[in-house]
Amino acid sequence: MSPLLEVRGLRAGYDGSAVLQGVDVAVEEGTVLAVLGRNGVGKSTLVMSVIGLVRAYAGSVTFAGRDLTGARTDTIAAAGIALVPQGRRVFGPLTVEENLRIAVRRNRPGPWTLERIYEVLPRLKERRGNRGDQLSGGEQQMLAIGRALLTNPRLLLLDEPSDGLSPMVVAQVADVVRALRDDGITVLLVEQNVRLALGLADHVAVMVKGEIAWRTDPAGFRGDRERVRALMSVTGPQ
Ligand SMILES: Nc1ncnc2c1ncn2[C@@H]1O[C@H](COP(=O)(O)OP(=O)(O)O)[C@@H](O)[C@H]1O
Ligand SMILES: [Mg+2]
Repeated sequence: MSPLLEVRGLRAGYDGSAVLQGVDVAVEEGTVLAVLGRNGVGKSTLVMSVIGLVRAYAGSVTFAGRDLTGARTDTIAAAGIALVPQGRRVFGPLTVEENLRIAVRRNRPGPWTLERIYEVLPRLKERRGNRGDQLSGGEQQMLAIGRALLTNPRLLLLDEPSDGLSPMVVAQVADVVRALRDDGITVLLVEQNVRLALGLADHVAVMVKGEIAWRTDPAGFRGDRERVRALMSVTGPQ
């Protein structure tokens, strides 16, 4: 079976500077791939490139057998990929419900409705009349996830969902991601919180300077501290 998402030789960046130097990643349907790596190696650039917000110079992005290289973000979303961006990017002046309704307008047919989002993320229902900028970091993260789910994606790109959240809230976010995974949704997860990522992932890809330097699984990652230090610690070899 071919992977749901297959990225091959992807080169992408900003204003001519190539951040991604030929990235290959594949995500099998129903699995979670964690992309780990130091700050600045290109993890966000990778997910933004997959969703079409950063232009690819070379390489390909194939999703569900369809070539989406260079496609527009709305085409990619309509094909079934949703991004929960780093920093959540909820609309501060809009209420929770208004933020969600924007996504409903764009959604593909599927199981996710506003009602179901409120069932799975009850906090959002309680806060439905509050403005985005009145929410806590954790609530904003839930809103960003809810908004992405409302498009009924087959693949969810999650960029640093635990960023800036307290350990208790991180655990709640992890529960949500686990439930989605158990529900069969495919996830590409970018995380600085290695423990969280390893607890959720089936496969792990470690990125160094715009390339995937190591492909493993959580057990393999935990079992090779030396390599982890070399590839991931800020003091390790560059
Ligand atoms: N909008 C942008 N314009 C120019 N350079 C950028 C932009 N966003 C990120 N970069 C640069 O691209 C590199 C990779 O960034 P990023 O993909 O955000 O890394 P990560 O998510 O792994 O921390 C960094 O050197 C960063 O400074
Ligand atoms: Mg990032």
